Amino acid sequence: MTETIFDIKIGYASPKNPIATASMAGITDSIFASRFKNAGMIILGGYNLDQPTNEAARKEVERGRTEFISDKPLEFIKSELEATKGYTTIAVNVRAASIGPFLEAAVLAKGYGAILEINAHCRQPEMVELGAGEALLKDIPRLCEYITEIKKTGVVLSVKTRANVVNDVELAKAIEKAGADIIHIDAMHPQGVDIGVIKRIRNSTKLFIIGNNSITDPESAKEMFSRGADMVSVARAVSINPRIIDQLVFDITSLQTMTGWYNAPKHICGGGDLRALAFCCLPVKPCALHGALKQAGITAEEFMKIKTDFARKTPIEYGEGTCFGSMTWCCKITKPCFLRDSALESIGLSDVEYMTIKKKLSEYILKHKKN
Ligand SMILES: Cc1cc2nc3c(=O)[nH]c(=O)nc-3n(C[C@H](O)[C@H](O)[C@H](O)COP(=O)(O)O)c2cc1C
Ligand code: SF4
Ligand code: SF4
Repeated sequence: MTETIFDIKIGYASPKNPIATASMAGITDSIFASRFKNAGMIILGGYNLDQPTNEAARKEVERGRTEFISDKPLEFIKSELEATKGYTTIAVNVRAASIGPFLEAAVLAKGYGAILEINAHCRQPEMVELGAGEALLKDIPRLCEYITEIKKTGVVLSVKTRANVVNDVELAKAIEKAGADIIHIDAMHPQGVDIGVIKRIRNSTKLFIIGNNSITDPESAKEMFSRGADMVSVARAVSINPRIIDQLVFDITSLQTMTGWYNAPKHICGGGDLRALAFCCLPVKPCALHGALKQAGITAEEFMKIKTDFARKTPIEYGEGTCFGSMTWCCKITKPCFLRDSALESIGLSDVEYMTIKKKLSEYILKHKKN
């Protein structure tokens, strides 16, 4: 049912909703996946693709960590992909000490219509010593070389990163330039979740963003969506409350049905990303809009022209009785306002239609971004 409600596309992958389960080595396998078919994406793994990483995993197990270990890694992953066929969109999170095994895994994943995810996240010393996991974040040229080579196979490619290890904006830009499709960010911060990292990356790349870390309920998921995440993923909370995936899918599906834009940004003055320029007022007062325009490299005059030009061909040009006489300058539908609502009612425009136009307006504004 949710397939028709969301329109999410990442190359050949079309997740049915924006809720994912994130990989947990030794836990998230095909048996785990059989319980979460309702998720929009299940990320299996992390799997170790070569002998060095499997040896490292053995050492980790000796000190109590869970891992997937195999002497025939590709055959193992093939059997997992076979077992999860038809469940939902599948991704495989993988670690390797060199490029060759990544290429083989990419060909395999693509053959099953699955996504390959480079694990540039793992910080276990045994993996990092091999140049795998987080070591890739600290060697961006090598990570980018991997991405470019892997993309030649045609696989849809995600890169799993951990925030606040290196400059996240520079990292995301490099990953995008190298050709990756998705950045899957663990927004970890020493003091909790760094929600701002999602916004910083949203404002600087067009990558598909999967936001991750401490999603435990619909509120924490919406925080990430409203900062620019296209999907959110959940790891530890699934082990504590397996029903969380159903709850999140239900909640985000309701939001999409009611508003038509499940990851609409917060207003700029509420901490939203630059997509929220679609909800901004006429630039006539001192407020956060001016800083956002500066960041986008758009002058106030250009901003007025961009929004007015766009609105001219749409029903939001109208707006008698609203603050600025046109709904071009009106707020997000979730902000209660009887002035806007009566303007909508008088032209017979539904909330979903209004937000769909605002979404297109935000894309139009961002096409004019110069920075
Ligand atoms: C037991 C365990 C194993 C993990 N294994 C992996 C892994 O193999 N690959 C990976 O990219 N992330 C791995 N992670 C990180 C999670 O995918 C996720 O990024 C992190 O736990 C934060 O998300 P959460 O707050 O929803 O748990 C693991 C996490 C846990 C708790
Ligand atoms: S223009 Fe309006 S919505 Fe935008 S930042 Fe200023 S007060 Fe907030
Ligand atoms: S009329 Fe309402 S929705 Fe429109 S700008 Fe004013 S407060 Fe916002």
